[in-house]
Amino acid sequence: MRLSSMATPPSRRRPVPWPWAIALACAVLPVTSPAAEPLALQGIMKDMGRNMQAIVDGLSREDYAAVEKASLAIADHPQPPLGEKLRIMSFVGGNAPRFKAFDGETHDNAMALARAAKSGNGGDSIAAFHKIQSSCLACHQTFRKPFQEHFYGKAEVR
Ligand code: HEC
Repeated sequence: MRLSSMATPPSRRRPVPWPWAIALACAVLPVTSPAAEPLALQGIMKDMGRNMQAIVDGLSREDYAAVEKASLAIADHPQPPLGEKLRIMSFVGGNAPRFKAFDGETHDNAMALARAAKSGNGGDSIAAFHKIQSSCLACHQTFRKPFQEHFYGKAEVR
């Protein structure tokens, strides 16, 4: 029989070099894993953070034109590329409406701050700033950790 003639007697089998195979897999996996690539969303978020700092600075200096400009930049923040949006939406799944609602709230609160700044009202601007900061926090409390675990793996969480 063809099959039996191909079989090697057990006594002559070479031992499987498992430790080598495992060491090799460990060395190669982190390099080939696409999970470490940061999302475009992360860059968009960094810009949102910088614009929030510009708002605080503008409020302190009563430079309402600067506050208005940074608020509008937050309201009209860029979107991630389509492929990444699809990855994000498939990950959030049934929570997509919630995710979008947090983004919508942030937009509306940023527009309200832009209006308060345009009218030059310091008190209204600070109240509006409080609201926008709370809407950033609401989304982060719900989604940031799961995103980091899903897209970067637990070990990458900073
Ligand atoms: C709809 C949800 C959502 C809203 C609203 C939101 N964020 Fe985020 N943000 C995230 C997620 C998800 C991450 C993690 C992204 C990642 O690590 O790739 C994040 C991360 C960040 C980071 C960390 C970026 C880094 O360097 O790792 C900053 C800063 C940030 N957001 C600022 C803001 C500010 C400021 C606002 C409000 C003006 C805001 N975000 C509103 C979802 C949101």
